[in-house]
Amino acid sequence: MASYEYDLVITNGICVTAADIASYDIAVKDEKIVLLAPSGSLAQADAEKIIDAEGGYVTPGGVDCHVHLEEPAMFGKGSSSDTYETGTRSAVAGGCTTIVGFAPQQKKEPSLLKALADTHAKAKGNSYCDYGFHMMVGNPSLEALSELKTLSENEGITSLKIYMTYAALQIRDDQILSVLLEARSNRMLTMIHAENGDVLNWLTDQLESQGLVAPKYHSTSRPPILEAEATNRAIALSSLIANTPILLVHVSDPGATLRIRQAQTAGQPVFAETCPQYLFLTRDDLDAPVFEGAKCVCSPPPRDKASQDAIWTGLRNGTFTVLSSDHCPFNYNDAEKGKMTCITAENPVGKFREIPNGIPGIETRLPLVFSSGRLALAKFVEVVATNPAKLYGMYPRKGSLIPGVSDADIVVWYPEGRRDITITNEILHHATDYTPFEGRQVGNWPRFTILRGKVVWDRDNGGVVGKKTFGKFLKRGASSLDRIWETVEEQGAFDVAAL
Ligand SMILES: *[C@@H]1O[C@H](CO)[C@@H](O)[C@H](O)[C@H]1NC(C)=O
Repeated sequence: MASYEYDLVITNGICVTAADIASYDIAVKDEKIVLLAPSGSLAQADAEKIIDAEGGYVTPGGVDCHVHLEEPAMFGKGSSSDTYETGTRSAVAGGCTTIVGFAPQQKKEPSLLKALADTHAKAKGNSYCDYGFHMMVGNPSLEALSELKTLSENEGITSLKIYMTYAALQIRDDQILSVLLEARSNRMLTMIHAENGDVLNWLTDQLESQGLVAPKYHSTSRPPILEAEATNRAIALSSLIANTPILLVHVSDPGATLRIRQAQTAGQPVFAETCPQYLFLTRDDLDAPVFEGAKCVCSPPPRDKASQDAIWTGLRNGTFTVLSSDHCPFNYNDAEKGKMTCITAENPVGKFREIPNGIPGIETRLPLVFSSGRLALAKFVEVVATNPAKLYGMYPRKGSLIPGVSDADIVVWYPEGRRDITITNEILHHATDYTPFEGRQVGNWPRFTILRGKVVWDRDNGGVVGKKTFGKFLKRGASSLDRIWETVEEQGAFDVAAL
């Protein structure tokens, strides 16, 4: 077999990282980026494959750290329409090379380790891209908390997610404190879904008693103040436990954003995520004819236009560390496991309380934001790849283009001005029967997606050309963003007597 100096060379591209934008060629060997060279200088290199980027942008592969796949039914009858196989297939077609999914512990389970083993069994051999897991803690029992040490030290699971809402997952404030304390001593980052579950249940009862059950009332039942209140509470609880690092997931409300910014300004290790649904959808999308609005039911709900603008501002000014999809797909036209499970003879427009919460978006995240024109490209790379890799302990292996260090996870975009692509569900690769972004125009799309040096998506020649066995489990280390754990340690341990 012929042996080449390089496995792959990408020539004639404009490379974008979180740090800079410049024209250079990239050489790949043994799954790693090994050389950056002056533009065009590797056009004749001894390489097994040469991709001519034709002047298009070249970015690190997307890192999507908020993805729900193949989870057990936790929202009434709804269960995920995507498996690891179909979800990660969709990921690579949208330029994403790493995902972090969830290993969900149910309330009835005392231990976390079984949920982790079950999730490994689902993902192994079924993933088109590299993957890790966050532990979703539904029952912070003594047993569960005692397992955090082995999760972070041996299993490569360095983040947890907890919920302040949803009957199946909501935990009390005292339980949140116990989780934060244990997470802190194990250098684990705690992700928090901040909505006040008790308040939204009460508001839902009020609406139902007046017969207001159509999908649009989903957003009425979850007003912004309920997100801002829970966000503020989460920040307060984290500060109480000696500034334990937290990440507020899927932030949609400007009030919550402002509170996060204040905590950051005060030096608290508080991080925040937002998602395309809060940049491209509004609550009006829940008010579509008959039941169609259910396609955009997710939590928190999309807000108004002014809120959208504030979220964009927060992305630009650094309040948001990461931009994830929160891909949480349910089929629409499905009365067994999808959105339509809540339609009955009694409720022909459904009952918003029972609509499974979540929307698909793993494949559309990068194209929507890349071509929005509302984010500088280096900032785009920072929030969709570099920061997620740092925040979740995968940097610099993931999220950058550093020779000798970074995996060759790369997206080659089309040269500017060549494409006008309309998003329709037919062009997507998930196993979900709709996209909430149907009909939107995007100006670009990943032309090639490369995972550890292998082309896994070639839009013009074969589409998804990778295999479901290519993805590897990533054992993650502690978060390296902004030296958060060093800062936390300088502060010293939690000491209740010192409060
Ligand atoms: C950044 O944007 C957020 C959201 O719009 C806003 O609340 C915050 O005040 C801004 N911060 C600065 C320093 O401009």
